[in-house]
Amino acid sequence: MGSGLGLNNSISFEVSGSGSPLLLVHGFALDHRMWQYQIEALSTHFRVIAIDVPGCGASPSQGARSVAELAKQIFTSIEPLLENRPATYIGLSMGGYIGWEMLSQFPHAFQAAVMCDTRASADLPTTAEGRRQMARKVFEESTESLLAPMIPRLLCDTTLASQPQVIQFMKEMMFTSAPQTIHDHQIAMSERQDFQDRLSNFGIPILAICGEDDILTPPKEMKRMAGLLPKGSFLEIPQAGHMAPLEQPHVVNQHILDFLRAS
Ligand code: MLT
Repeated sequence: MGSGLGLNNSISFEVSGSGSPLLLVHGFALDHRMWQYQIEALSTHFRVIAIDVPGCGASPSQGARSVAELAKQIFTSIEPLLENRPATYIGLSMGGYIGWEMLSQFPHAFQAAVMCDTRASADLPTTAEGRRQMARKVFEESTESLLAPMIPRLLCDTTLASQPQVIQFMKEMMFTSAPQTIHDHQIAMSERQDFQDRLSNFGIPILAICGEDDILTPPKEMKRMAGLLPKGSFLEIPQAGHMAPLEQPHVVNQHILDFLRAS
């Protein structure tokens, strides 16, 4: 199959390149376009499949009530695109939460993973309560007013000061999110499983990548997580926050390519 956009059993995806498959899964209130620089760089060596999580971008919601269900819906829809070849999972933040579920449910399908700016633990009670509040408010306030305060927390100061196009692009993706999806994904994340005690079960090579100024999933926590993985490694990205692949694409791409070649 060549490059292009598609809709497979309700999952919208962009596929480009050929070779070993990479499955790219974006973060909360975003869509597959957040990987635009990775799609460009990685598709010269691999078959890159960047999906819209159900309810985001062009993928309609399939009514998932949990992160586990989202993982199952995505995998069952895109499995034919993997063409029976072992895949590498690449996820950011919520895409990482979905990743732990997908690697657990379908271990046979994956040979490696890259977890960007994410964590393996469940929510603290205060975080879960914050999500429930947002899920309530999203039907009363505009998406923009609710999500705009997140942007300075997602990007580091350097990006905020010197990359206005990244800020604009984040707004474009976030402010068009459907209120029902924001509600559903916040509730699903607030109830997600804790994988911390099960990290030793993930025997494949897993690279953890984190922006040095990521305040949402800090480097210290991601480094600790990587240390609990049997074949885990950790890399910190200078001058990046929670959106390292978008803030510092060239550095992140090089690390991912080096990791993929080695594993
Ligand atoms: C994300 O970027 O996907 C979110 O920060 C995830 C979260 O809210 O935990």
